[in-house]
Amino acid sequence: MDVTTLIDAVAQIKSQADELTHQEIIDSLSRPLAEFTTSAENQGFAEAYGPSGNYTRLLLNDPREPYQIVLVFWGPGRGSPIHDHDDTIGAVSALTGEAKEIKYGVTRCEGERVKLTQGSEFTIAPGRVTPILPEADKQLHLMVNEETRWAATVHIYLTAIHRYRQYEPTPDGAFRTAETSLWFDECRVGRRMPTRTRI
Ligand SMILES: [Fe+2]
Repeated sequence: MDVTTLIDAVAQIKSQADELTHQEIIDSLSRPLAEFTTSAENQGFAEAYGPSGNYTRLLLNDPREPYQIVLVFWGPGRGSPIHDHDDTIGAVSALTGEAKEIKYGVTRCEGERVKLTQGSEFTIAPGRVTPILPEADKQLHLMVNEETRWAATVHIYLTAIHRYRQYEPTPDGAFRTAETSLWFDECRVGRRMPTRTRI
C-alpha cells in the first residue's frame, strides 16, 4: 500500500467515524496501516531517509487535514516519556526496526499530579499494530527503541493532535503533567514517498 492510498483510507475512516464503534475504527485503521508498514517500497524510503536528529518527527500528510499520519525516527536507545494523545483515537505500527510500548492507566488525579498504573507491554514491529484509544486506561503510553539499530514508526491520529501531556515522575512515585505542543521537523513528507499517483 502506498502513502496516497493510506491517506485516502484514513480520510474515508475519518468521514465515517461517527457511525463506527471504537473497535471498528481501530480495525479499519489497522488493516491499511499493517499493509503500509509491510511494504518493501515504504521500508526502503525509511531506510534511505537521513533523520536530522535521533528523534525526528515527520508529518506525511498535509497539516490542514483534520487527521495526522506521522513518521517518527528513533535512534538506538531513544525513547519517549509517558504521554497521552489528547483523547484522539489512532493506531501505531513500525516501518523499520521495532519499538517497545508500555501502556499506563490513570488511577488518580489531583490537579496536575496523577497516579499511574503500568499496563501491558507490546513490541511494535512492521505489520504489528497497537491501538490508541481515548479510554483512561488505554490512552497513555511510552515507547522506546531498545535495539542497536534505528527504528521508524508510523502513527495515525484520527483527530489531529496539537497539544498533549507528558507525565514526569516525581520523587514520591506520582507524576506531574506537563502540557506540550506537537511539532514536526517537516510536513507533507508523503509527497516524497514512493506512490503510484500524485498527492
Ligand atoms: Fe504516543
